[in-house]
Amino acid sequence: MLRTALLAAAGSPACRSLVERTPLTRPVVRRFVAGSTVDDALAVTAGLIGSGRAVTLDHLGEGTTDPSMAAATVKAYAELLTLLADHGLAADAEVSVKLSAVGLRLPPDGDRVALDNARRICAAAAAAGTTVTLDMEDHTTTDATLGVLRELRVDFPWVGAVLQAYLRRTEQDCRDLAYAGSRVRLCKGAYAEPASVAFQDKSEVDRSYVRCLRVLMDGAGHPMVATHDPRMIAIAAELGKDRPDWEFQMLYGVRDAEQRRLARDHAVRVYLPYGDEWYGYFVRRLAERPANLAFFLRALVTR
Ligand code: FDA
Repeated sequence: MLRTALLAAAGSPACRSLVERTPLTRPVVRRFVAGSTVDDALAVTAGLIGSGRAVTLDHLGEGTTDPSMAAATVKAYAELLTLLADHGLAADAEVSVKLSAVGLRLPPDGDRVALDNARRICAAAAAAGTTVTLDMEDHTTTDATLGVLRELRVDFPWVGAVLQAYLRRTEQDCRDLAYAGSRVRLCKGAYAEPASVAFQDKSEVDRSYVRCLRVLMDGAGHPMVATHDPRMIAIAAELGKDRPDWEFQMLYGVRDAEQRRLARDHAVRVYLPYGDEWYGYFVRRLAERPANLAFFLRALVTR
């Protein structure tokens, strides 16, 4: 119930302005977000790479209904990618992009706007010598996101996608995407979804995650195992023990010691968000884990 309430708050403009106006929120947000500026993002990226981890950077923002905001997001990614190359970080740092941040929700033809904008980001990534992964948002965007993925991969065959194990359709999507050259980031899923499309019980989601993981590990693509769950991590390590081409992925600020431990024997990539539009991302992190919410509330009352 707490999760549902928090996920509802993630989409609420009133809650957003309340939380954003609370000055004490910011230091807590910094646990999960590199900072506001591209320089903050570059500094944290360099530190993570120095510790033996790779990075995927997310310029925060989502659900844009303003074409100029979508264009600004493309510009921010292009600037980031140029700087990653200039700083010699592009070999170990790619970017993650939410299509709703680059126009997916813009009427009347958001799919086309998002595709054109994502193409620009991919061209900048190609010039920098790195890759792009498309984040996955709520289930109403899954078909459109996979459609954009297909189009992008014609020119940029290294573009990756995220699949969410809580969706009933995802095992089949994993089968469809488990081909050579295909990069699939498998996560559990972070949005409030109805039972008609998504498993509701944690145990059902976990079982689906394992089924999807098996499909990806048996396939010819590059599985990206995005989870902090010790059971999923152990199962992935076992399923992947005889294949080299896969990696663990975790969120910045979550289980840092475990990330470092895994990086001794496995490829590990950290999902690193930066920018001012942190509200939706931050509240989804609180919804995932009561301890994160407790950490947030404790920080507020002890300051
Ligand atoms: P879950 O939340 O079920 O936690 C399982 C267990 O993990 C816990 O019981 C605990 O043992 C451990 N754990 C989790 N958090 C911990 C913490 N802070 N400290 C200590 N232990 C902890 N979602 C989405 O819908 N679309 C997307 O595009 C993405 N992208 C994405 C990229 C990457 C790299 C990651 C890691 C995650 C995403 N997600 C996402 C988020 C994802 O869907 C999911 O909400 C979170 O990863 C949480 O799920 P877990 O698999 O970690 O397990």
